[in-house]
This record gives sequence, structure tokens and C-alpha cells, in this order.
Amino acid sequence: MKDQEARRHRILLVDDNRALAENLAEILEEAGYAVVWAGSCAGALSLAAEGFDVALVDLKLPDGDGTALAPLLKELSPTGEVVLLTGFATLESAVAAVRAGACAYLVKPCATQELLVTVEQAMRQVRLHGEKRALAHQAQMAEKLAAVGTMTAGLSHEIRNPLNAALLQLTVLERRVQRLGGELHGPLLEPLLLVKDEIRRLDHILEDFLQFARPREFVPRPVELCLVVARVLDLLAGEAERRSIGLVREVSGAPGSTRVAGEEERLRQVLVNLTLNAIEATPDGGTVRVRCGPEAADPAPGAPGPGVCVLIDDSGPGVPAAARDRIFEPFFTSKAKGSGLGLSIVHAIVAQHGGTVEVDDAPGGGARFILRLPRLP
Ligand SMILES: Nc1ncnc2c1ncn2[C@@H]1O[C@H](COP(=O)(O)OP(=O)(O)OP(=O)(O)O)[C@@H](O)[C@H]1O
Ligand SMILES: [Mg+2]
Repeated sequence: MKDQEARRHRILLVDDNRALAENLAEILEEAGYAVVWAGSCAGALSLAAEGFDVALVDLKLPDGDGTALAPLLKELSPTGEVVLLTGFATLESAVAAVRAGACAYLVKPCATQELLVTVEQAMRQVRLHGEKRALAHQAQMAEKLAAVGTMTAGLSHEIRNPLNAALLQLTVLERRVQRLGGELHGPLLEPLLLVKDEIRRLDHILEDFLQFARPREFVPRPVELCLVVARVLDLLAGEAERRSIGLVREVSGAPGSTRVAGEEERLRQVLVNLTLNAIEATPDGGTVRVRCGPEAADPAPGAPGPGVCVLIDDSGPGVPAAARDRIFEPFFTSKAKGSGLGLSIVHAIVAQHGGTVEVDDAPGGGARFILRLPRLP
């Protein structure tokens, strides 16, 4: 799972003095950062569109001013921070830095230690902003889930009763139609079975709602995640085959290396939802690849410890950038017959297990869902 290793923090270095820029880049790369360099405002703007964590920006550039460039860079990469580089430690340059929205400024030529400390401080700022955004998003999700729960408690019982009664009557009707035989049999039976199917779908949606309304007690036990993956893929093999979709499984690591603490039934629900989504997104004849294995002993930054990772790649259209923040919200769906609850259930269960679930691009196009859970020793 090399491609899932920690992404390096990206630094955008904007200075027209090539020798100095190379010097700074070398120091930063040695400290583990990925550095991209631009010698002008125009170059910086085109590189910033790809995103950066921290931009080090010279005050005087051949085609403009660093203080004017800084806000434009932040607009292009709103999660990034800017540090201004100046030739003189004057009060004006400090004021200019603050005005430009920079979080710090460095006087050139700066000592290695000073450079690294300032960049690390800016990175911390970036992380803090990220955590704040994540918390705000979680609070918003929790609010929505609470609303779903309240509504469900009131409605689902009332709806399910008449629904079950209707299903029962339809079954009676079906039996009678079957007894009729002859010419009437087909034309009567077909719409009847369609209505039965739709009622079952409604019942399934209500069942999903109930997950939110009655959160059960969580009793974690050791679960070998690779085995759950295998069971889920066996379960969905028929559906994939029907649409000529190749369902590829790859399990890595020694036995016992994908053990997590959790509830098998809920983890199965997570994997069913993610794999079904992948199958639904993939055109007939495409491929869905599910990989499960232990993560490298060196956990990703911010991760609670060594983990188990499941990657679900499909060859569908992928998730558009604009939808990525929303797909885990309850009711977000792009499907005519979807409830939009699948991924919000996934998110809630995974959080309960102390894990994370993210969406990315699959290397060959299509979507990649990345599930990480803490590994049991
Ligand atoms: N593998 C994927 N490829 C592309 N888009 C996806 C993928 N998985 C999820 N999505 C997008 O996320 C949306 C939400 O998914 P979610 O599972 O929550 O609901 P749904 O699949 O639409 O409905 P339900 O799961 O209730 O049948 C989907 O409608 C789709 O737009
Ligand atoms: Mg779904």
C-alpha cells in the first residue's frame, strides 16, 4: 500500500533569486518537505492552483509585489499559509506582511534553524485550521443525523405498519393471480411484482433510517477485517457477475495482521455499502478492486497508530471535486433511486470504530474509497 503513504507537505517557494531559492529548497527538502519553485508572480499563481501548504514569498518579484501576491495565493489555496521573505527587518515590512494576510515573515538570508522553525509554525497553523474545519463539518453532520433520528422515531413505525399490511395483501393477490393461469397470468403478475419490489425498497430505506434512530450499544470484539471483506465480496459476486463487472480481491499481510476491534455486522455493512456504490458506479464490463491489508508500521501523521486499510477502487466516473465534501452527508445522492444514506451510515460506523473513511481518485480513473481502522496488536 505504498501509494497510501503519508503525503509530503508541499511548499511553494516564490523568489526570483535562483541561487537563494535553490539553497532554501535544499534545506526544506532535506527536512522532508516537497518544494516547488516559481521565480515570478505569474509562475506562482499557476503553481498555487495545484495547492500548497505553505508559500514562502519574496516581497520584491520581477512582475509584482509579494504583498499583493499573498492574498491571491491564499484565494487559490485557501487551506495554505503564506510567509513573506524580506531583505530588511523594518517595521514597514512587518506591517506589510500582516496586511497581506501572511502568518510570518523571514529576513533574508535566514539561518537554517530559523527557516525550519518558521515553516513548522506555519504548518501548525495549517493543521489547526484543518482541524477546526473538520470539527465544524462534524458538528453540522451531527446536527443532521440528530434531525434524521428524531424524524425517524416519529415516522418509520407509522409508515412500516401499513407498508407491511400492503405487502401481505399483495402476496395474497399474487397467489390468486398465479392460480388464474392462462393469458391473464403474465400481464397481471408483472406489475404486481414491480409494486412488491418497490415496497421492499421502501422498507429497506426505512431500515436505514432506523439505524440512526435507535443507535444500539457498541460491543467491540476482535474482528479479522480481511475475512469480512472476503464474505462481503462473496455476497456481492452475483450482482457483479450479472453486470459483467470484474470483482477483484487482494489480501496482503500475515494471518491476524488485519485484526481490528469492532462489530462484524456493522463492519460488514460498511463494506457492503462501499462495494455496492463502487459496483453501481462502474459501467458494465468494468472492474471493482478491493484490497485489504495492514498499513506500514510507521503510521500516517495524525493517525492513532498502525492501522488496517481497505481500498475500494472502481472504474466508474469518479466523484466530482464539488461533491466530495457532501457525499458523506445524509440524503446526498446523485441516483434517481438512492436514499443518500449509505455513506452517512458508513461514516457514522467507521467513526464509532475510531477509524476514517475518505474518497480519492483511483489511479486508473474512477473513485477510490479508503477505509482505515486502528489495528489490534
Ligand atoms: N464509487 C463511487 N463513484 C462515484 N460516486 C459515488 C461512489 N460512491 C458514492 N458516490 C456518490 O455519493 C453519493 C452518496 O452515496 P450513498 O451511498 O450515501 O447514497 P446512494 O448510493 O446515492 O444511495 P443508497 O446508498 O441509499 O442507495 C452517491 O449518490 C454518488 O453520487
Ligand atoms: Mg449507496
